Amino acid sequence: MYTSLWQTARLLEAGKVVAIPTETVYGLAANGYDGDAVGHIFDIKQRPRTSPLIVHVGRQEEVEPLVASMPAGAQKLAAHFWPGPLTLVLPKSSLVSDEITAGRACVAIRIPAHPLTQELLGIVRFPLVAPSANPFGHISPTTAAHVAAQLGEEVPILDGGAAERGLESTIVGFEQGRPQLYRRGSIPEEALAQVVGAPIPYRQSKEGKEGRGGQLSPGRLERHYAPRTSLQLGMPRPWKGAAGQRVGLLRYRTHWAEVPAAHQFVLSPEGNLAAAARRLFAGLHYLDGLGLDALYAERLPDHGLGRVMNDRLARAAVPPAA
Ligand code: TXA
Ligand code: MG
Repeated sequence: MYTSLWQTARLLEAGKVVAIPTETVYGLAANGYDGDAVGHIFDIKQRPRTSPLIVHVGRQEEVEPLVASMPAGAQKLAAHFWPGPLTLVLPKSSLVSDEITAGRACVAIRIPAHPLTQELLGIVRFPLVAPSANPFGHISPTTAAHVAAQLGEEVPILDGGAAERGLESTIVGFEQGRPQLYRRGSIPEEALAQVVGAPIPYRQSKEGKEGRGGQLSPGRLERHYAPRTSLQLGMPRPWKGAAGQRVGLLRYRTHWAEVPAAHQFVLSPEGNLAAAARRLFAGLHYLDGLGLDALYAERLPDHGLGRVMNDRLARAAVPPAA
C-alpha cells in the first residue's frame, strides 16, 4: 500500500511503521519516542534486538537534545556533510531509549537530505528511527518497488523515487575524540579524510547478530546485503562455460559475450562509480529475481565508492550459516 506524505505523518503519529525514502536506501521508520512502534520495526525486519537503530532528524538543532556531547571532529563532519549520507555515533542523552541503541551508551544519528524525508521530518514532532527497509541480512531497497517486493503488504510505503545515492550512509564513531570509520557508505573515506585532515581508521562495526562489543574481528565478515541466489565476488576465470548452470552476472561497464544479456546487469557503461553505486542494489534485486542457479559480481575499482561497493558485495557473497 502506498501512502501520501500527510498520511505517512498521521500513520507515524499513530504509532505505525512506514517505509520511507531517503537519499541512501529506503528506511523502515517509526516514532523514536514510541517503544511499541520501535519494537514493531524489529518484528517486521526479523532483526535481532541486539542490533541498534539509526535515529533520523530534520535539522542540526534537533540533534543536540539527543546527545550528551559532540566531539569537535563530529561538529566538523556534521557541518560539512549534513544533511546527507553521514551517520555519527555519539554519546546518547536520556531521551534515547536503550531499545534504540541495543543497550549501548552511544546513539547513531543522521540528517537525511532527501527532500520528501526532510518534509516529513518537518511535519512530525519526533525523531524517526529507521533501519534499511529489507528483511534482516537481505538486499537493501533503493526503490519503493523493492520494499513492496520484500515486505509485501505488511507496511505502507511512501514513494520518493529511486534513491539518489543507492548505498547506505557512512557511519563514523569516536574513540577518545578521534573519528573512526564504523561502516563504509555513500561518503567515501577519501572525502571524510579531506574534511578531517587525516585518514580515518576503519573499525568495522558489527552489523550482526550478537552486537555486544560493537567490533568484528578482522577478516571475519557476516552475511549481509545478500540475494537469495548464491553469489560470488569476482568473475569465474577461466570461464569454463556454464556447465549446465544458469548464471547471472553483475558487471561494471560491459556485458560478457558468453552469457545472455538478459542475465546480466551492467552498472555503468561510462565507468562512473557514483552511477554504479546508485544501481548496485537494483542490479542485485534484478538478478536475484531471475531465479538463476548462481550469480557472479565483478569486483569494482578499489577506491572511493568502488571500495564501498566491493565491501557490500563481499558481505553479500558470504554463504548462509549452515
Ligand atoms: O543510509 C542508512 O544509514 C539507512 C537509511 C535508512 O538511513 N539506514 C541503515 O540502517 O542502513 P541499518 O539499520 O540497516 O544499519 C544501521 C547500522 C548497523 O550496522 C548498526 O549496527 C549501526 O548502524 N548502528 C546503529 N546504531 C549504532 C550505535 N549506537 N553504535 C554503533 N553502531 C550503530
Ligand atoms: Mg541494513
